Amino acid sequence: MNAPSYPAGARSPQRVGVVGGGQMGAGIAEVCARAGLDTVVAEADATAARAARERVAVSLERAVQRGKLDRISAEDALARLLFTEDLDDLADRQLVIEAVTENADAKTELFTALDKIVEDPEAILATNTSAIPVMRLGMATRRADHVLGLHFFNPVPVLPLVEIVSSLHTAPRVTDTAEAFVRDVLGKTAVRSQDRAGFVVNALLVPYLLSAVRMAESGYAGAADIDNGMVLGCAHPMGPLRLADLIGLDTVAAIAESLYDEFREPLYAPPPLLRRMVQAGLLGRKAGRGFHTYA
Ligand code: CAA
Repeated sequence: MNAPSYPAGARSPQRVGVVGGGQMGAGIAEVCARAGLDTVVAEADATAARAARERVAVSLERAVQRGKLDRISAEDALARLLFTEDLDDLADRQLVIEAVTENADAKTELFTALDKIVEDPEAILATNTSAIPVMRLGMATRRADHVLGLHFFNPVPVLPLVEIVSSLHTAPRVTDTAEAFVRDVLGKTAVRSQDRAGFVVNALLVPYLLSAVRMAESGYAGAADIDNGMVLGCAHPMGPLRLADLIGLDTVAAIAESLYDEFREPLYAPPPLLRRMVQAGLLGRKAGRGFHTYA
């Protein structure tokens, strides 16, 4: 199949907005700025906006240290980013990517607000959700044909994949434009998925992560041995429990809930240990402790 190019009359977005500057949002903003795009990152308040800027700055510095980026390009990328606490600063954006916490009500409310704020009727409103129906977010706007999923992978500057998720209402030309943007501007590889919880990757990954949690929960094997088993025995870059810690156990639990809600299959049900760890605030790497501890 030929890779899609921009449909006639469609333009590649130049002014991009990202809502949420956490792990995923900061990574998406970094990738957009590194691709030369004027990028606005909206956060809930000034403290969160400063933290988001710091996250991007640290990641850019890491890229420089690892020889992936020269210092001038890193400084240029940071200069292309505006961090704000005012959602209205997204008014002139041609593409907005939502990357707030995996909470369906919060995301729905945000899409209703974005629909009112973003002025260009041709602007694309995208969600980085892992498992919440894109249709639900589209229906919260008056432009469901311009709403789709752009699902990035953590760490965003490193992993080359983006899932492109069309709802039943997404216009094919919007999907084609988004795919061409992901490929030609961001330099990532796209896979397309229909709008089913988990899309392609998480529908496969999350049951595997949950199986590892169940294995640890039952005392069948220890966390280090489970992880070593998959790293050394199957050449995975990291074991399932360390990966769950990286994603965030709250996020893994939220994705599992959405998958279970959609399919009612026991393999998607979040195990009690995962729920307890979330309740205990042991959220993984970002909290300093999950299945492993982090300095
Ligand atoms: N910008 C550019 N490149 C960077 C970078 C940055 N900010 N930070 C690191 N890199 C590069 C490094 O230079 C290195 O490149 P080379 O291999 O060419 O030298 C590479 O990224 C790996 O970096 P590190 O050496 O720092 O770290 P590592 O080798 O220990 O790998 C890891 C760390 C990338 C996280 C790796 O363990 C990995 O890929 N793990 C699996 C992650 C994964 O599966 N993510 C998907 C999670 S699912 C998800 O996100 C979706 C969801 O909905 C839940």
